[in-house]
Amino acid sequence: MNEAGFSARAFGFLGKFPSVRILVVGDIMLDEYIWGEVKRISPEAPVPVVAVTKDTRALGGAGNVAVNVAGLKAKVELAGLIGADSSGREILRILAKRRIGTSGIVQDRNRPTTTKTRVIAHHQQVVRVDREMDDVPDGRAQDALRARVRKAIGNVDGVVISDYLKGALSRELVNDIVIAAGRSGAFVAVDPKRTDVSFYRGCTLITPNRHEAEAALGGRRLPGDMEIWEGGKALIRKSGAKAVLITRGEEGMSLIERGRKAFFHIPAKARQVFDVTGAGDTVIGTVAVAMGAGAPLRDAALLANVAAGVVVGEVGTVPITMEKLSKALRGE
Ligand SMILES: Nc1ncnc2c1ncn2[C@@H]1O[C@H](COP(=O)(O)OP(=O)(O)OP(=O)(O)O)[C@@H](O)[C@H]1O
Ligand SMILES: [Mg+2]
Repeated sequence: MNEAGFSARAFGFLGKFPSVRILVVGDIMLDEYIWGEVKRISPEAPVPVVAVTKDTRALGGAGNVAVNVAGLKAKVELAGLIGADSSGREILRILAKRRIGTSGIVQDRNRPTTTKTRVIAHHQQVVRVDREMDDVPDGRAQDALRARVRKAIGNVDGVVISDYLKGALSRELVNDIVIAAGRSGAFVAVDPKRTDVSFYRGCTLITPNRHEAEAALGGRRLPGDMEIWEGGKALIRKSGAKAVLITRGEEGMSLIERGRKAFFHIPAKARQVFDVTGAGDTVIGTVAVAMGAGAPLRDAALLANVAAGVVVGEVGTVPITMEKLSKALRGE
């Protein structure tokens, strides 16, 4: 599979991205950043006083996957839980601005919107403040979410499950998704966090990072290609998925497909690395849009690897976009 051939095929898929429809289901979060300067120590306690210069907000978790999908110009609908609070309202505002559909979002009055607030002074994180409740949501919220997800699946080419263990996903919901997707011919791609991958039984693809893959195999170490290949096959057996894409940070990613003898490894694009957070969201978002455009898994993974190479080379958690991906494919 030479690079030149891939690049020509890749542009064929990119041309189809605007007609791809993806539903992202999972744990939606708000990432808040408070930027400022420290000029003195507080008279109240031995802590710095941060004078705020600006604050910024971005979607995290499943929300960030949806932002990546939207950046690739595909149509995207987001489903998950938010609270009846200011973070929840902020999430809805950002989604509207980015043209991400909100028909799958359920407001649960009994829990706060998962919010991570970082205070950053002089490029250094001073403290992080988390607001979240990761236990099982009440039955009414769960039922509402299941109903909305079932309804949305009829209109999409594929579903992404973005699991950050914050409570949006239940076995029942995952089962609903697998059944409805099977009926309509949509694929189901999962970014997993649980160690019990049978939770995602029936999905098409799972994309654990190396650490998640190791944890799902009871702590078995996966240091090199040989172990990744064997581990990938074991994960296919445990999850029932058709394929596993194990992301390996600076080593790139490896694709293991059910019934396929060859192991497919893609080295990371050698680039300057600034910020690797959110690279996993870019990977699953890009893989999903590419699959929706009809790309075979190997091509979808090659595209995702290019996309991840772009976003890790930028400062801050930034999404991939159609423009940036096209440029990178042209080698610019
Ligand atoms: N240090 C790096 N150098 C080059 N590429 C990288 C680096 N880190 C990540 N990548 C790219 O991003 C992809 C996904 O990264 P990684 O395996 O760290 O996912 P992850 O742990 O799920 O990320 P996240 O922090 O978003 O959860 C890799 O397969 C690779 O293509
Ligand atoms: Mg990840």
